[in-house]
Amino acid sequence: MKSISTPALSRRGFLAGGAAAGAAASLRPAWADTPKPFSLRAAPGRARLVPEPWGETDIWCYGGAVPGPEIRVRQGDRLRIAVENALDEDTTVHWHGLRVPNAMDGVPHLTQAPIAPGETFTYEFDALDAGTFWYHPHQRSFEQVGRGLYGALIVEEETPPRADRELVWVLDDWRLTQDAAIAADFGGFHDMSHAGRLGNTVTINGRIPDAVPVRTGERIRLRLINAANARIFALDFGDLAPQVIALDGQPVTPHAPLDPRGWVVIGPAMRVDLMLDMAGTPGETVTITDRFFSDQNFGVVDLAYAETPLRDSPPDWDMALAPNPLPEPDIARARRHEVTFTGGMMGGMVERQMGIESRESMMGGGMMGRMHDGSIWFVNGVAAEGHILDPMLTLERDASHVIAMTNATAFHHPIHLHGHSFRVLSRNGTPTAHREWQDTVLIAPRERVEIAFVADNPGDWMFHCHILEHQAGGMMGVFRVA
Ligand code: C2O
Ligand code: CU
Repeated sequence: MKSISTPALSRRGFLAGGAAAGAAASLRPAWADTPKPFSLRAAPGRARLVPEPWGETDIWCYGGAVPGPEIRVRQGDRLRIAVENALDEDTTVHWHGLRVPNAMDGVPHLTQAPIAPGETFTYEFDALDAGTFWYHPHQRSFEQVGRGLYGALIVEEETPPRADRELVWVLDDWRLTQDAAIAADFGGFHDMSHAGRLGNTVTINGRIPDAVPVRTGERIRLRLINAANARIFALDFGDLAPQVIALDGQPVTPHAPLDPRGWVVIGPAMRVDLMLDMAGTPGETVTITDRFFSDQNFGVVDLAYAETPLRDSPPDWDMALAPNPLPEPDIARARRHEVTFTGGMMGGMVERQMGIESRESMMGGGMMGRMHDGSIWFVNGVAAEGHILDPMLTLERDASHVIAMTNATAFHHPIHLHGHSFRVLSRNGTPTAHREWQDTVLIAPRERVEIAFVADNPGDWMFHCHILEHQAGGMMGVFRVA
C-alpha cells in the first residue's frame, strides 16, 4: 500500500481558532452535585485530515468529528456520560487518567460487559482531580483509537493560573494511503513486534494544522495530549522556553523540560501542560519540530507572531497549580514489587546483555518461534490474551506500594496504570527531580523506573503498555487492589 509519506509530514496547515481563555474563577455552584450530562456517539464518520488536493478520510469517531467533543467540567463536578455504540463492533470508553470507581473504568470484560452495537452504556463519576485527561475505547483499541475514536476531557481548577489564552492540542498520527484513506493493516506483526503502528501524517486536533497566530508578550497555556497509537513526540520549541506545569494532568513544580536538549517528550497517552511565553518579535514565525526519531525530524506546527505585540515583555504571573487530593505514599513502609518487561524484536539480545533470564530467553529461539499465537510481549513472563485476566499482583488496599519496573526490551514503552496516579521516584537508581505524579510513564530500553502510590481504589485495574500494538501483543496485566 502506498503512503503519502514525507510530503504530508512536512506540510503544515491551519489550526482553527484556538480555545477561549480559561473561564474566570467562581465559587462552586450548589448544583455541582447534580451530574453534568454528556453524550457520546461512537460511529463511522468522515474528516478532512489533510488539505486539498487530498480528499476526506473515512474514520471512526465520537460525535461526527475527530477529536470527539471536548468534555470540560470543573474539579468536583460529577459527570454522567451516555455512550451510544453506532459502530459494527463492541466498544467501551475508558477515561484515561481519571481516578474513577472500577465499574466506570471502561475495560471490557474486566470492569463491564462491552457495549454491543446499538446499545448505550452510561458512565457516572466525580472529577476528583483537576487536569488534562482524555477518553478512548478499550476494546480493540489498536484499531478503534487508530481510526479516530478519542477526545479530550478537561477538568478545570477552581482557580486556574492566569494566562492570556488556553489551547488544547490533541496530537495524533495516521497511516494514510495515497487516497488519504486509513491503511487497513491494523495489528500487523511488524508493528506489533517493533515500535507499534507509526503513521505518516501528523495531525493536531484532527487535521494537519495551519500556522497558529500568536502575539509577542502573550502567555499561552498549552494542554498537549498524545492520542497516537505508538508515536512518541520530542517537541523542540526552538527559542521558546516552555515551562512544564503539569504531567498527565497532575500539577508539578513549574520547570523547564527535563530533556537535556529542552525537548518536550510525550509518549502515547501522556499529557503535558505547558506555559508558553511568546517572547519572539512581531512578524516572526517559530516552528515546533518533532525530533524523537533523529532521521525523521519534521515541523509539527508553526506559530506566527502578529505585527502588533500584546505587551512588551512576558507577564510575571504565578504559574504553579494547586495540588490534587492524591494520597501520599509512605516509601519507607511501602510493599515492593518487581515487574520486568521482555519480548519484542531483538528482545532476546537485550535480555542476555542485561543478564535477565526470562522464559523466552531460556527457550532460546527468541520471539520468532512464538509469533503464531500473538504472544510477543511479556510482563513477568506472561503474555496476556484478551481482557479476562487473573491478577498478576494483588495489592493490599490503602497500603503504599513501590513498583520497580525493568524494561528488558529494545523499545520504549509508555506504561499505564488504571485507577491511580503514581509518583515516579527514580530512573536507573537516580531520584527524579520532581517526583512527578503520572499515570503513564515512558520507560526507555534497558531503563529501570520505580513508581509509588497508595492503592486506595479497590478493584481490578489494567496495567499495560500504551503503544496499542504492544498491548494487543500481550503487554498488559491486572493489579488487584483488595
Ligand atoms: Cu488509555 Cu488502558 O488506557
Ligand atoms: Cu510497549
